[in-house]
Amino acid sequence: KLSKLAKFPVGVSVAYGNEAFSYTNSPAQQAVIKTHFSQLTAGNIMKMSYLHPARDTYNFTQADDFVKFAKDNGKTLHAHALIWHADYQVPAFMKTYQGDKAAWLAMLKTHVQTIATHFSGKVASWDVVNEAINDGGGYRNSIFYQNTGTDYIEQAFINARAVDKKADLYYNDYNIEADPAKLHTLTGMLDGFKARSVPITGVGFQMHIYMDYPSVSTMSAAFKQAVDRNLKVKITELDIPINNPFSPPYQAGDIKRELTPALALAQKKRYCDVVKAYMDTVPARLRGGVTVWGVSDPSSWLISDLFKNAHADWPLLFDGAYQQKPALRGVADGL
Ligand code: XIL
Repeated sequence: KLSKLAKFPVGVSVAYGNEAFSYTNSPAQQAVIKTHFSQLTAGNIMKMSYLHPARDTYNFTQADDFVKFAKDNGKTLHAHALIWHADYQVPAFMKTYQGDKAAWLAMLKTHVQTIATHFSGKVASWDVVNEAINDGGGYRNSIFYQNTGTDYIEQAFINARAVDKKADLYYNDYNIEADPAKLHTLTGMLDGFKARSVPITGVGFQMHIYMDYPSVSTMSAAFKQAVDRNLKVKITELDIPINNPFSPPYQAGDIKRELTPALALAQKKRYCDVVKAYMDTVPARLRGGVTVWGVSDPSSWLISDLFKNAHADWPLLFDGAYQQKPALRGVADGL
């Protein structure tokens, strides 16, 4: 049982309701969640457009059911995410919102505070802002950035903290463990936060990584940037596919690999190395937890979003029959 081995949350993202591979109609999946994980993240249903579909409309029905499921089973919740640029997640009314910078900040303040108030006391932590920085460094040119510059980022933290005094507040992003230029923009942002006393608790490292990229030393150095600033480090969306759709630095041929027993063991070692890097680099008081992005291999978002359903992959800890893989032992060994 992973959750028994760790002194910090061990989490998993879960699909809900009508989503493919939803836990709501899978007793086998629920059993795995109950046994191994101490924290849950909603894979989709707590994103912006789900909770705030129209200007004056909030829809908490599904999320409240999810909160209840977590509570009934003694799991904490990591909530994801208050602000995110992804096209399918930005509420339609925001895409066409007309207003000057002050109006945008006021509109986003209402969004953040209505949602954070609703869940205050029910969630342990929030991804307050997700993916505001570009690969290669610099800030992402989202509609939020276009209309407010970087102010929307720190205002989101200030506004969330004003209505939820307790939850840990994270900035969450991908590739910050792999891309030094992206990490550099992040550390600059964090230093600015510190100078202006912006209330941030930690950095969420999504960690959608690969078998041989990034190196352990690169990811450890990235964790250390948060640790050196006395911020928590949370691995929020870990998955490690066998195949690598990019090239270079990846091998183009990799994309055709099947999960052989040898690769399952290599994946076990990789999961172990990642968790060890986390344990070695992040002191106990700053460990926000480790979450894997999905329960079973066939349910992984990588298959539809990254590989475009071109072939299968096996990035997670359980197979399609909810049997544990060597990868799960790898996580346990690293703890
Ligand atoms: C993914 C979900 O898992 C998919 O179901 C959805 O189609 C796209 O979004 N980074 C994030 C997550 O912060 O919200 C994304 O989740 C995966 C990448």
